[in-house]
Amino acid sequence: MSEPVMPKELVDKFGRHVDYIRLSVTDRCDFRCVYCMTEDMTFLPRQQILSLEELYRVARAFTELGVRKIRLTGGEPMVRSNVMWLIEKLGRLPDLDELLLTTNGAQLDRYAGPLKAAGVNRINISIDSLNPDRFTRISRVGKLEKVMEGIDAAIAQGFERLRLNSVIMKGYNEDEVLALVDFAVDRGIDIAFIEEMPLGEATEHDRKETTCSNAWVRSEIARKYQLLDSATRTAGPSRYTQIVGKPSRVGFISPVTHNFCADCNRVRITVEGRLLLCLGNEHSIDLRNILRDESLTDWDLQKAIVGSMDLKPERHYFYEKDHIQPVRLMNMTGG
Ligand code: 5AD
Ligand code: SF4
Repeated sequence: MSEPVMPKELVDKFGRHVDYIRLSVTDRCDFRCVYCMTEDMTFLPRQQILSLEELYRVARAFTELGVRKIRLTGGEPMVRSNVMWLIEKLGRLPDLDELLLTTNGAQLDRYAGPLKAAGVNRINISIDSLNPDRFTRISRVGKLEKVMEGIDAAIAQGFERLRLNSVIMKGYNEDEVLALVDFAVDRGIDIAFIEEMPLGEATEHDRKETTCSNAWVRSEIARKYQLLDSATRTAGPSRYTQIVGKPSRVGFISPVTHNFCADCNRVRITVEGRLLLCLGNEHSIDLRNILRDESLTDWDLQKAIVGSMDLKPERHYFYEKDHIQPVRLMNMTGG
C-alpha cells in the first residue's frame, strides 16, 4: 500500500490558510518589561527547551507544508546562544519568502550586520519610551541608549522595512504617543501600537486601569499627523495607515478592542515545542515529544502539524464574560 500524500498547505476548519509561523527561540530576555514578565522570573531548564537543531526541524517541516513566513520571537531571540547558527540555516530554506525578527534591540548594534547577511528581511524593535528613566522603569532593567544604538545600526543596514513596536499604558507612557511617532517619522521607519493583552499576570499594575485603546492612540496622533487607512495588508494582525506626506506608516494592533481572528493566518511555536493554535487560547499540541521520539520521523511531525489545524479555535476572547485567561506570559507565548 502506498503512503497517503502529505498536503502542501495548512488549512483549518474555518478555511483559514496558515502560512505564517512565529517561532519562539528562548523564553529568556535581558529585559523584564512590566507587561511581559514578573520581576523574579524563573526560566525553563535547558532540557525542556528545543535545541537549535530541533527548532530548525520544526521550521523546515512547516515550510514543506506551505509556510512562507517565519518570525523569530522570544523572550528576546538574540540572547539565545548561537542563535545566528539557526538564523543562517533558516535564511537558506528554499521555500521561505520572509524571515522576520522581533527584538528589544539591545544587541542590534552588534547583530544588525550578521542578521542582514543571513537573509533576515524585516525587523520589529520594541520601544515604549524615549525617556531614559522611564524606559528603564517599563523594561525594569533596559538601557534606552543601547536600543537607540541598535535602531541606528539596523537603519544603517538598509532592511526592507523597520518597524518600532510600542505598548502604550496609562500611567507609564501615554503622553509619549506623538513623540514616538515623531521619532519614527524622523528616521523614515514605521511604528506600530500594540494594545496590552491580558496574558499571564502583570504584577505591577491592574491592566484594566492601564490599557489604552488604539482608537485613543490614533486620536492622539491625529492631533499632528493626517493618517490615511492603507489598503495594503501585510500578512499579520496590523492595520496600517500611511502618514500623509511622509514615508512612515503607523500600524495598529488591537487584539483587545478589535477582533482580527477571521483572517488569522498564523500559529505559534513555544520554545518548549508546544504548537499553540491561538494566542488567546490554550489549544495546543506537543511537538517536542515527536521530535525526541527516535522511532518517529519528519513525516510524523508533519502529520501531527496537519492534524493540529482542526484544533485552531475560531477566535480569542479577552475580557469578555466567561473567558478563561491564559496563564502564559508573553515570553512563554512568543511575542
Ligand atoms: N500585551 C501586548 N504586547 C505585549 N508584548 C509583550 N507582552 C505584551 C502584552 N501582554 C509586546 C512587546 C513586544 C512584542 C513582542 O510583544 O512590547 O513589542
Ligand atoms: Fe523582553 Fe520583549 Fe518581554 Fe520586554 S516584552 S521582557 S523585551 S521579551
